[in-house]
Parts: sequence; structure tokens; C-alpha cells
Amino acid sequence: MEKNNEEKSKILIVGATGYVGDYMVKASLSLGHPTLAYVRPIHTSSHFSKLLHLQSLGLTFFQGELDEEEKLVSCLQQADIVISTLAPPQYLEQLKLIKAIKLAGNIKRFVPSEYGNEVDRVKGLPPFEAVLENKRKIRRATEEAGIPYTYISANSLAAYFVSYLLHPHDLKTLQHILVYGTGHAKAVLNYEEDVAFYTVKAATDKRAENRVVISLDLNRTLSPSWS
Ligand SMILES: NC(=O)c1ccc[n+]([C@@H]2O[C@H](COP(=O)([O-])OP(=O)(O)OC[C@H]3O[C@@H](n4cnc5c(N)ncnc54)[C@H](OP(=O)(O)O)[C@@H]3O)[C@@H](O)[C@H]2O)c1
Repeated sequence: MEKNNEEKSKILIVGATGYVGDYMVKASLSLGHPTLAYVRPIHTSSHFSKLLHLQSLGLTFFQGELDEEEKLVSCLQQADIVISTLAPPQYLEQLKLIKAIKLAGNIKRFVPSEYGNEVDRVKGLPPFEAVLENKRKIRRATEEAGIPYTYISANSLAAYFVSYLLHPHDLKTLQHILVYGTGHAKAVLNYEEDVAFYTVKAATDKRAENRVVISLDLNRTLSPSWS
């Protein structure tokens, strides 16, 4: 279980300035965790503004690339738990993170970037299957390295998919909405804030060590199941 209130785990987020990373930083800070981020060197004014905003909420950030091993290891040595929210094109970059976690030697839990399908149970059609396969590669590399992990399978993120599929902001001008298939297919949508909160909770809970957390709930009540 979580340490007592005075001694909250230090959480390092990699990918903090991204879509899911933003929710993760806010969940971690709200739950009272000292929250760190390892981010690429500032590259645009919006990246800079985002970091300043997250810093104003309490985030401490370190700048560096994932292949700057020494920098990454020294950052990891200041944390207890690593949550990755890197985007799909960067999934295999997490091999560098896994190597650095091994070298650092102090990380108690690693949550690789997933938050989608349960990749050890489903197969996708190409080209999506290649994305799932990269997630599997990272799972196997984590296990081979002997790093304690928690895998988060969140199915579909609600705000992301409602926006992506229905374009609600265009509704004033749209004449038609395209419904895929018969319109009766069941989907699991989980609200981003909920996913971020239970990811942080699971990452700091001994019971979720080396487990997969799968959320199937349609009603915004937090009841993820563990397998
Ligand atoms: N199930 C769903 O419905 C759903 C929906 C959306 C996302 N997701 C999942 O959530 C995870 C995060 O996705 P996301 O959409 O939040 O990612 P994102 O916003 O595209 O990017 C995440 C972060 O990765 C970092 N990064 C590091 N190296 C990079 C590089 N070379 N190029 C670009 N960015 C780089 C960037 O942070 P810095 O610049 O600060 O380093 C960036 O902000 C993924 O696993 C994705 O599949 C799931």
C-alpha cells in the first residue's frame, strides 16, 4: 500500500507535456505526490508555456533527451515510480528508459505508456496491430529486466474519442454525423481524469505490482479490475 501521508512516493512522468501526460501530472499532484518530469529540451513557445503552467501547479522538471543516459539516470535516482505517457511513435524509445531504470536501481514501479487495449489479449488489424506489438515489446523488455510494473489498459479515452469521432465542436455547421457500422457496437469509454487518477493510485499500490489493470466501467465509477 501507499506510504503514509508524510512520505508520499515521488513520481516521475515521462511525456508530461502531452495529452495524457497533462492529466497524469495533475492527478499525481492532486494526490499529493512530489511530481517530477523528464522532458525534451524546450523546443517551442507552446512547450515552454505548458511547462511553466505545470511548474506553477507544483511540477519539477528536468530537461534532457532519452538517449542522454547519465542525465536520465540521475533524474530517475530522484524518483520512486516512473509513469510513461510517451506517444505511439516513441514507444520503442522506452527501451532506453528501461535500460536507465535498471542502471538507476531504485525504481519501485514502472508504468509504460499504454492506456488502450489489453494488448496481450487482443489483436488488431494492420496498421494498428504494429502499435499493439510495440506495446507488447515494451512489456516483455520490462519483465526481462526484472523491473516491477503495472500495465494500464484503459480501453478508449472518452473525451479523446468523442472529439475524434463526433467532432462536437463542428455540430453547428455539420449536416450529418457518420455512424460507423450499425451503430450498435459496444465500446468502453473511460474519462481521462479517472484513468490518470487510478493509474497513479495503482502505481503506488503494492497489490497492483506486476499486474494488469483493466478498466471496463461505463459509469464513471472507479472500479478497474486486475488480472
Ligand atoms: N485509448 C485511447 O483512447 C488513447 C487516446 C489518446 C492517447 N492514448 C495513449 O496515451 C499515451 C500518450 O499519448 P498522447 O496522445 O498523450 O501523446 P502526445 O501528446 O502525442 O505526446 C506525449 C509526449 O511525448 C514526449 N516526447 C518525447 N519524445 C518525443 C518525440 N521525439 N516526438 C514527440 N514527442 C515526444 C513529448 O513530451 P516532451 O516534449 O515534454 O518531452 C510529448 O508531449 C499513448 O500510449 C497513447 O496511445 C490512448
